[in-house]
Amino acid sequence: MDFILDKQVKAWLNECKQIINSKSKFKVDFKSSFRDIVTEVDKEIEGFLRSKILENFPDHRILGEESVDERGVEGLNESKNLWVIDPLDGTSNFVKQGRDYCTMLAYFEKGKAKFSYIYDYTNDEIISAFDGLGVYINDLRLERPRDSSISESPVATDSSALRAKDYFHKLADGAYCLRSVGASGLDGTRVAKGMFGAYVNLSAALWDYGPFILIAKELDLKISKIDGTSLDLGEDRGYIIGTPKAHEEIVEIFRP
Ligand code: IPD
Ligand code: CA
Ligand code: CA
Repeated sequence: MDFILDKQVKAWLNECKQIINSKSKFKVDFKSSFRDIVTEVDKEIEGFLRSKILENFPDHRILGEESVDERGVEGLNESKNLWVIDPLDGTSNFVKQGRDYCTMLAYFEKGKAKFSYIYDYTNDEIISAFDGLGVYINDLRLERPRDSSISESPVATDSSALRAKDYFHKLADGAYCLRSVGASGLDGTRVAKGMFGAYVNLSAALWDYGPFILIAKELDLKISKIDGTSLDLGEDRGYIIGTPKAHEEIVEIFRP
């Protein structure tokens, strides 16, 4: 772990918090549909993080949700130094509820996850993960969650999984109960903490789950595409993260 870089990234995340706290009003725009919104805060945070990364590492590649360049997701697995940014995850929560949103950063070298960060603003918790060195909530190392099955644990879904009616009913039948924070980064964090057995999102992109590739590895959790195959940085749309048992059960439920 590079302690200087860790301190620096945490300082950037604290500046993101100040950006958020400085806005009492912000403009909201629609993207692909009435459900897909972006605020000027999302854009400002992404611009800020991008400028900090490039100031320190001018030749690194950045994939940010709000400013995907013309290369799109091409060549991400081969990229020598890749940062993936979700400036505000849970933008709907941010706009409609004023809580339960986060900022996510994940760093990869040639497709291998090296470190990642999630700032849960509401709980003032920075979740960080380092290749081979575990996962931390602020400075406390997280224990590996118990390998619970879905019948023993709350399972979280995003709305796209709720709309997939047949599968969703099977999930509701099998799970102890269903819960959802409403931000991929925070639902996934609850899996890492052992509060949820699993989280399934049928529509997520790389920025929605980037940090969890490493978090899952460090905590012996499973993460995959919906069909159970390995995630690939160059493709997106959906992921499941869970304890090994819960993950396997959910892959089975969503099998076409
Ligand atoms: C969304 C949130 C939401 C999930 C969506 C994501 P955004 O990210 O994580 O909970 O259901 O799939 O796209 O747009 O708020 O960054
Ligand atoms: Ca997101
Ligand atoms: Ca976002």
